[in-house]
Amino acid sequence: MTTERNQTLGEFIIDKQEDFKYSSGEFTRLINSLRLAAKVVSHQVNQAGLVDIVGAFGKQNVQGEQQQKLDVYANEVFIKTLINREIVCGIASEEEDDFIAIKGKNGGNDNKYVVLMDPLDGSSNIDVNVSVGTIFSIYRRVTPIGTPVTQEDFLQKGSNQVAAGYIVYGSSTMLVYTTGNGVNGFTLNPAIGTFYLSHPNMSISQDGHIYSINEGNYVHFPQGVKDYIKYCQAEENDRPYTSRYIGSLVSDIHRNILKGGIYIYPTSTKAPKGKLRLLYECNPIAYIVEQAGGKASDGYNRIMDIEPTELHQRVPFFCGSKNMVEKAEEFMAQYPQI
Ligand code: AHG
Ligand code: MN
Ligand code: MN
Repeated sequence: MTTERNQTLGEFIIDKQEDFKYSSGEFTRLINSLRLAAKVVSHQVNQAGLVDIVGAFGKQNVQGEQQQKLDVYANEVFIKTLINREIVCGIASEEEDDFIAIKGKNGGNDNKYVVLMDPLDGSSNIDVNVSVGTIFSIYRRVTPIGTPVTQEDFLQKGSNQVAAGYIVYGSSTMLVYTTGNGVNGFTLNPAIGTFYLSHPNMSISQDGHIYSINEGNYVHFPQGVKDYIKYCQAEENDRPYTSRYIGSLVSDIHRNILKGGIYIYPTSTKAPKGKLRLLYECNPIAYIVEQAGGKASDGYNRIMDIEPTELHQRVPFFCGSKNMVEKAEEFMAQYPQI
């Protein structure tokens, strides 16, 4: 008999399988393969500096970003793991121009889930030994089972997500995920390659004292964001707040869930639509943070209600402790949404 504290992720997944009505075990197998890929990438991240894995790959992705070797490696590991185990019908990734339609044995595909992912988030931090992560988002396809997936299967609102999670490769490797019944975090014991339930029922405090934003871009920010930053810095009540910004979304969000805080990546004159991608960065993080009791918006509207129009669509992102996000929205509401 295991106690909740030392339950392994494998045991936890089997326990929770019954929560899924009509479950055929397909979803369980999907989470299991993400768990496996996470361990492989974690091992490789920890080898950075020893093996030839740091630095630029020499190519740009479709969004014009310089790909790092580890971006390409993590992308391959997650895609190969999912394809080889024949458990999803389609994959979309930050590192792939278009979605991948996976053919089943007889050309058709009887699987019902699609995965969208940011295989390596915060990759500019890898060369300097700072935490990076992986983000994933899972949906049921909307087109008929057995036919090839189409764009429609990927351009779904965040509120349709079946599950979402992230892996943070930090001082330890953690996998955090939700299936809509709260958020649970598992820490990898690298000696034996097993994830243990270390953070059951994670929740984010309603108020917090941390604000996370790249303030170097201050002059380019909308006035509502500038005003909110000044509010965070004012000496009044429980302020000024503490500023913490790693530059890896996963790590900044993970810290803020545990300690209470707000993360903002707004629009700017340099990035008029924001920088972060709706489908595989903001939606999965929004789902996790909402499930932990927090909030995620684009400054005006709930992130998970946005109707996506493009695979690599960018959105401004305000996410974290509920009252902090609502306060930031109050400042944004003083100015029209552009
Ligand atoms: P990615 O490495 O997947 O392209 O994502 C980087 C993102 C995100 O992780 C981070 O919060 C943000 O870019 C940092 O951007 P700035 O350097 O502009 O602050
Ligand atoms: Mn990213
Ligand atoms: Mn990335």
